[in-house]
Amino acid sequence: MTNTIKESKKSIVTARIVDHYEVARNHFLMSLKVPSYFQAAVPGQFVMMRVKGREDPFLPRPFSINFLNSHNTGTIMGILYKVIGKGTTIFSRLKKDDELSVMGPLGNGFNMPPDRKKIALVAGGVGVAPLSFLAEYLKRQTNASAQGIEEIVCFLGASTSQLLLDRGRLADACSKLMISTDDGSDGYHGTVTELFQNHIDSYTDNDSIVFCCGPDPMMTGVAGIVKKYSIPCQVSMEERMACGVGACLGCAVRVKSHGDRPRYMTVCKDGPVFDSKDIIWKQA
Ligand SMILES: Cc1cc2nc3c(=O)[nH]c(=O)nc-3n(C[C@H](O)[C@H](O)[C@H](O)COP(=O)(O)OP(=O)(O)OC[C@H]3O[C@@H](n4cnc5c(N)ncnc54)[C@H](O)[C@@H]3O)c2cc1C
Ligand code: FES
Repeated sequence: MTNTIKESKKSIVTARIVDHYEVARNHFLMSLKVPSYFQAAVPGQFVMMRVKGREDPFLPRPFSINFLNSHNTGTIMGILYKVIGKGTTIFSRLKKDDELSVMGPLGNGFNMPPDRKKIALVAGGVGVAPLSFLAEYLKRQTNASAQGIEEIVCFLGASTSQLLLDRGRLADACSKLMISTDDGSDGYHGTVTELFQNHIDSYTDNDSIVFCCGPDPMMTGVAGIVKKYSIPCQVSMEERMACGVGACLGCAVRVKSHGDRPRYMTVCKDGPVFDSKDIIWKQA
């Protein structure tokens, strides 16, 4: 994908809920009607959302775009989210026809270099949200023969089988879907990082690329594995956000620099997608 949107539209729009349901315990899929310019968004980009007309919580919350569908009735954006605190609890109670204020699409999405034939998607928990969109996007591009992609393998991990989100979509979009669960209720019994490590021999530095999103320890683990084999890897980072547009510096992450001092980049504006080797990993 070389057409990553660099200059995102940053206007705030009203988006109406057209569908909203619990896909698994504490995990919801919300479909919102958005303006047609969202169709230009690429996987990895995100939106900032708050309930329209509601002051509490004051700050909007960031969510990856999980899908975009265009119909003759308009453009529908999917948000796949986990309830973890105040904002997501309020979202989870919203019904069809309720309205949200949405800013986006924001940030820089995944970037697909043209020479990569083998793609590994490594997804942990709700971190699958941008990767399902990416898998479908890449499949469409491959079908349109825009890219010389030979295979897309998804390593999908969750704590238990019921929380393996977007399984059907990934099975359709990818050449192969490899499953892991922490409790052994489906697929490999262990973490998705271990599962990926077990298949690392299928990937090389000259024809492969890894795209990864999930909890911090998982991304740290994947970053460590790919580093050993010099396989390029892009990660979608998560930090708490306030402005979403690079103004407050609240979402800064430490990145490597050539000098003595560490450098900071913002997840919202410079990311959320980064090259894994540029990040100074907290546990590294
Ligand atoms: C670019 C980006 C994309 C995201 N995409 C998704 C997505 O597609 N689906 C999804 O479920 N979530 C996603 N998130 C995370 C989501 O934004 C948070 O879960 C949400 O903001 C929590 O809001 P809350 O009010 O429910 O929780 P709060 O009440 O604000 O916080 C509850 C707890 O969660 C912690 N927390 C809150 N936000 C984050 C965060 N971003 N990272 C780490 N810890 C946090 C807080 O420190 C606190 O302990 C994304 C985050 C970013 C930055
Ligand atoms: S959220 Fe304000 S700079 Fe990123």
